[in-house]
Amino acid sequence: MKKPVVVCGASGYTAKLIIEFLRSFQVPFIAAGRNRDRVEAAMKLIPGIETADYEIAELPTDVADLKKLFAGSKVVCNTVGPFVQHAEPTIQAALEAGCHYLDTTNEQNYMMPMRDKYGAEFARKQLLLAPSTAHMCTIMETAAEACLAESEVDTIEGVCIVSGTPTPGSTQTFIQSVTAEERYLEGGVLQLWRPCHSAEVRVPFTDRTLLALPWGGSGLPLWYQDDPRVQSVRTMAAFTNRDLMEGVLKIYSHYHANLRQLPEDGQREALARIAAGMQPGAPPRENPMIHRNWDTIIGSSTTKTVRYTIYSHCGYQITGLLQAFAANWLIKHPPRAFGFQGAAHAFGYERILSVLEKFGYGKLVRGN
Ligand SMILES: NC(=O)c1ccc[n+]([C@@H]2O[C@H](COP(=O)([O-])OP(=O)(O)OC[C@H]3O[C@@H](n4cnc5c(N)ncnc54)[C@H](OP(=O)(O)O)[C@@H]3O)[C@@H](O)[C@H]2O)c1
Repeated sequence: MKKPVVVCGASGYTAKLIIEFLRSFQVPFIAAGRNRDRVEAAMKLIPGIETADYEIAELPTDVADLKKLFAGSKVVCNTVGPFVQHAEPTIQAALEAGCHYLDTTNEQNYMMPMRDKYGAEFARKQLLLAPSTAHMCTIMETAAEACLAESEVDTIEGVCIVSGTPTPGSTQTFIQSVTAEERYLEGGVLQLWRPCHSAEVRVPFTDRTLLALPWGGSGLPLWYQDDPRVQSVRTMAAFTNRDLMEGVLKIYSHYHANLRQLPEDGQREALARIAAGMQPGAPPRENPMIHRNWDTIIGSSTTKTVRYTIYSHCGYQITGLLQAFAANWLIKHPPRAFGFQGAAHAFGYERILSVLEKFGYGKLVRGN
């Protein structure tokens, strides 16, 4: 029988974690990658893989072959980023094959065109198109939903703080996104962040401030754009490593001063070289004693302000868990809403919190 889940980019850091958690949920899957040897080698590194029900497949690039790979499955988990460069054929093939589609982006410049082009058709076929089923930004979305459920707030400010080391794929993705426009929601209308915008943000665990950037803009302004409860949404992100943040800000400035006038391919190549120079290779497995995250949402209205923080650890592992949880859910039940959705909207913020707590990855705290 056809395996219900296909994981694309299976040789990568995040895909291996998705697979580890698919095994925990006892979900059979196809591990698909562009190089079979690299996928085979990657599978050997996954703890407990000998008890998983899976097969390995080569990942094609064109829609027709991707559709053949996906036909008969129910969910595609895509980790091949930067998504703005690689994901569209995978989305199209998932739609044509009748599969729900999940990925791990945080970049609006990719999500917005995919929403506009494919969102309605996914909804019409009762399928979910849920990019950003990942630590960044499902956890902020979960805190935002908790905030909105409890009070009359209509204005949301979110900060995602990460203490960790990005993988090569993540580094390529956030460096490529310096070319992108990033948006916040103001009075129900999407507005552009000023290029190279940064801000010092307060965080729960120190009196120091951290340097934060819009970091692709995140899905939150998009998930809430037509939500009658919400007027305004701003989100930013910061790694606790200030040198990394200052380095990325310099790359934004360098792009606007020197690279923007190059043809698109030239920009992409120049930025890919910069990203490759920043990243020596895949980081070691995350450690909860070191790799901690704080996703804070401040909700306000004319009469009150509330603050929710999700304390969590190991953002890549959380991403693996969220993808596997979502895939397992979707092969058994419909989501709460179809089409283009954030994961906390599609599955309910209470379920996201419950799965985080069940696996010991995070906890929601009110008022901190
Ligand atoms: N929002 C979040 O919280 C979050 C969390 C985790 C990851 N992410 C995102 O997820 C993406 C993957 O991250 P990662 O950590 O898994 O990176 P990674 O370890 O570098 O893995 C990237 C994977 O993509 C494959 N790949 C790259 N280019 C490809 C192409 N042109 N065609 C087919 N396959 C290709 C690689 O295959 P080879 O091995 O053959 O090179 C590898 O399997 C990144 O965009 C990252 O930003 C986001």
